[in-house]
Amino acid sequence: MARLQDKVAVITGGGSGIGLSSVKLFLEEGATVVAADLNLDNTDELSSTYGDKFAAIKVDVSNSESVKELFDEVDSKFNSLNVLFNCAGIFPADDGGVLDTPETTWDRVQDINLKGLWLCCKHAVPLMLKSNGGSIVNVASFVSFVGAATAQVAYTASKGGVLALSREIAVEYARKNIRVNSLCPGPIQTPLLEELLSDEKRRERRLVHIPMGRFGKAEEIAKAALFLASDDSSFVTGASLLVDGGITAAYVTPE
Ligand SMILES: NC(=O)c1ccc[n+]([C@@H]2O[C@H](COP(=O)([O-])OP(=O)(O)OC[C@H]3O[C@@H](n4cnc5c(N)ncnc54)[C@H](O)[C@@H]3O)[C@@H](O)[C@H]2O)c1
Repeated sequence: MARLQDKVAVITGGGSGIGLSSVKLFLEEGATVVAADLNLDNTDELSSTYGDKFAAIKVDVSNSESVKELFDEVDSKFNSLNVLFNCAGIFPADDGGVLDTPETTWDRVQDINLKGLWLCCKHAVPLMLKSNGGSIVNVASFVSFVGAATAQVAYTASKGGVLALSREIAVEYARKNIRVNSLCPGPIQTPLLEELLSDEKRRERRLVHIPMGRFGKAEEIAKAALFLASDDSSFVTGASLLVDGGITAAYVTPE
């Protein structure tokens, strides 16, 4: 039996990387999936393959009106919501140390990575209550637990916030059948890391900390998201699942 049969799932950031891989996996697992993103260019073929079981809706998660419109549309189209995978996020190139990160960059990162995620939870929860519960999966990061090898203060702060926010909502809704968990990837080869990974020095600096000796793939994070989204994780809430090739376990890496 498919693991998301008869479920309706919204995946923000569903137009690229981890979000797009998850859209594909959740569709294969029987869900009706809404990919919500600023840029949906990569989802065209899914509409022709999956028909009514797939919708692409443009959203800016940092804009409350836009987020409200997204969930209003989900409500009127499907009259149900069982899964929210909050995957939209940014990692700007000028996010650096405490002294040199521009204030505008700090604000933009918090607006999208943290406030945007809260806005999506805020508008999803009433639909989930109407649907007798659901599962929210919020993308945090390994940097929610340890400092990054190269400074990125705004991003790291936003992902620490995601972890704390997810726990709060998990406790608040635990008896109303809504589970909320954080999924914390290590460095994953997606467009988000393109700039960092194209710099040989920064690439090597990251790689040296990963016991498994490689970057992760979007599909590997999608599989963990599927576990948290589905009833396979029915007693898991307020938890953080690290999928990081061992990066947070390591003080030294093997030769
Ligand atoms: N790639 C990694 O190494 C890594 C590691 C840890 C956590 N993450 C997190 O995983 C999530 C997905 O990242 P990815 O690697 O797949 O990156 P990605 O750049 O491939 O995808 C991110 C998506 O978010 C969308 N997005 C950005 N701003 C938006 C907004 N305001 N409204 C709606 N959509 C918006 C982008 O258009 C893009 O499609 C992010 O939250 C990221 O912080 C990634």
